[in-house]
Amino acid sequence: MGKASKDKRDLYYRRAKEEGYRARSAFKLLQINEEFGIFSGVKRVVDLCAAPGSWSQVLSKELNKDTDETDRAKIVAVDLQPMTPIDGVTCLQADITHPKTLLKILQLFGGEPADFVCSDGAPDVTGLHDLDEYIQAQLVLCALQLTTCILRPGGTFVAKIFRGRDIDLLYSQFSYLFESVVCAKPRSSRGTSLEAFIVCQGYRPRPNWKPELDLTKSTEEFFEDAQIGKSYIGNDMEFPDAEERSIARFVACGDLEDGDSDATYVLNTNERKRNLEPVQMPTAPPYKKALELKRKGEMQRKS
Ligand SMILES: C[S@@+](CC[C@H](N)C(=O)[O-])C[C@H]1O[C@@H](n2cnc3c(N)ncnc32)[C@H](O)[C@@H]1O
Repeated sequence: MGKASKDKRDLYYRRAKEEGYRARSAFKLLQINEEFGIFSGVKRVVDLCAAPGSWSQVLSKELNKDTDETDRAKIVAVDLQPMTPIDGVTCLQADITHPKTLLKILQLFGGEPADFVCSDGAPDVTGLHDLDEYIQAQLVLCALQLTTCILRPGGTFVAKIFRGRDIDLLYSQFSYLFESVVCAKPRSSRGTSLEAFIVCQGYRPRPNWKPELDLTKSTEEFFEDAQIGKSYIGNDMEFPDAEERSIARFVACGDLEDGDSDATYVLNTNERKRNLEPVQMPTAPPYKKALELKRKGEMQRKS
C-alpha cells in the first residue's frame, strides 16, 4: 500500500493502515467470516495467492485468538511473489498451478488435510476483457484443483471470482463438490467492480474419484474425471438440460455501519495532516528495475 494517493479517502485503505494490515482486502475476508463463520474450528489452512499477506494476517490473528502456543493453527501462504514473514504463517514462494506446490503444502501439514482453503488470486490483467475473464476463471479452477487434493470432507473453500458472462458454469462445477455454494459480496469490495467471492462449504468429494495433479493434464481433463466438467455441457457450450444450470445465492456481507467502499469520505483536518506510513513496502515491485536503470542513467525511451 503506497503512501499518498486519492485513495487516502478510501475508508478501508485507511483503516487497513491504522490496524496494521498490509492490504485493504483484509476486510473482505473479515466480512465474509462475519456472515458465514468460516473460521470456526479451523486448525489447518492454506491461503493461496496470498501476497502481500493481509488475509494471512487476518487468519493468524483470528484463528489463534483464544489458543495457547501448543494449539496454534497451521497456516501456509502461497504466492508467486516473495512475502515478508508473518507471525504464525509459513510462506511458500510458489505457483499454485504446479503439482509440486501441493506436495510442499502436504509436507508442511504432515500429510493431514486442510480444514479451509482460500484464494484471492488475480492474474495480471491484459485489458482484453474476455481474455482476462478466462484467465481468472482458469486460476480459480487451478485453486479448486489443489483444494480437492488437500481439503478434508466437510471443509470450506473461498475464492475470488469475477461475475462475468459464464459464471454459471463455475457455480455449477462447484455445486457438484460442495453442499453449499454462495456468491458473497463484502461491503469492502467495490460495488463498481465485478469482483465477488464464492463461499463453498461442506466439501463432498465425488465417490471413487481420486484427484491427482498432473502437469500433463489440463484443468478440463482433471475435472472430466470427476464428471463435473464440460462432459455435462453441449459442444455449443449450452447446458443440455436447464436443470444443469446452477445459480448461486447472492449475499451481501459486512455491517451497514462499516462504510461504503465506493464512497469518498472527507477526512477531518487532523487526519488530513497525518500521513500514515505503508504497513509493508512491496518486496519485489515490477518498477524496481526501472528505478535502477533510471538511477544509472540507462533508461532509454523507445522511439
Ligand atoms: C489480490 S493479490 C492477493 C492479496 C492477498 N489476499 C492479501 O490479502 O494480501 C493476488 C495475488 O495473486 C498472486 N498470483 C497470481 N497467480 C498466481 C499463481 N499462479 N500462483 C501463486 N500466486 C499467484 C499474485 O502474485 C498476487 O500477489
